[in-house]
Amino acid sequence: MPTKTAPQRRPVIGGNWKMNTTLKPAEALALAVGRAAMQPPLHKAVEVVVFPPFVYLAHVALTLCHANSDLAVGAQDCWPEPPGAFTGEISVAQIKDVGGRCVLTGHSERRHVIGEDDALVCRKTRAALAGGLSCILCVGETLAQREAGETDAVNERQVRAGLEGVAAADMKRVVIAYEPVWAIGTGRNASPDDAQAAHQRIRAVVADMFTPDIAAALRIQYGGSVKPDNAASLFAMPDIDGALVGGASLKAEDFLAICNAAASAAAQR
Ligand code: PGA
Repeated sequence: MPTKTAPQRRPVIGGNWKMNTTLKPAEALALAVGRAAMQPPLHKAVEVVVFPPFVYLAHVALTLCHANSDLAVGAQDCWPEPPGAFTGEISVAQIKDVGGRCVLTGHSERRHVIGEDDALVCRKTRAALAGGLSCILCVGETLAQREAGETDAVNERQVRAGLEGVAAADMKRVVIAYEPVWAIGTGRNASPDDAQAAHQRIRAVVADMFTPDIAAALRIQYGGSVKPDNAASLFAMPDIDGALVGGASLKAEDFLAICNAAASAAAQR
């Protein structure tokens, strides 16, 4: 049984720019998205957040502020300790200070390329929430895990470990992104039915960890090769509440087409 019930979940679309852009193109991209986010059909209907590289975060946030856009800006990572001797790292307080409102934790590139484990992902998630930010916790299986039939077990482990110790009251500021690792940046994406099945299982895990109401209100994004031409079929699924977009977030036109698809899907629910 799909778990789509009241309350209505406002779709959330994230644009993860990864280690791309330079200053001026970052500014232009943010402005194009930021202006559209203030207009129908997006304004109020879809929550949009962009994740520039750290070096551009402050500039992008300030640019959007000057343009009177309430487009949210987030950080692709954080360090979970208070400010101090952590050469090269960025604290939650610093992200907040320059206008960041959200942090991505557990992105597959940080888990599988940089080597972060569940315990560190959890510390980062808790630090972001303790610092007053919202958090998108990313989970998802590798191709080998999927082929071994471990998809649900991996997602469950990453959700339980990533949210361990998170207070129920803070779950309002948590979004989960289900991103199968084999679909990220590859042009392959999970079928809407496969993604729906994974989202439904993740929601059930959250219901078990917290309460059915918290699970029903939780937004779960799909991520992995989301493009303008496959977004609508994913957003038509009852437990898919938006997308975390990598490659297609670097072109305003493509990213906005995905945001608009989320607005249409929400209007039809
Ligand atoms: P992609 O990246 O859209 O390029 O597959 C998604 C992500 O890494 O969040």
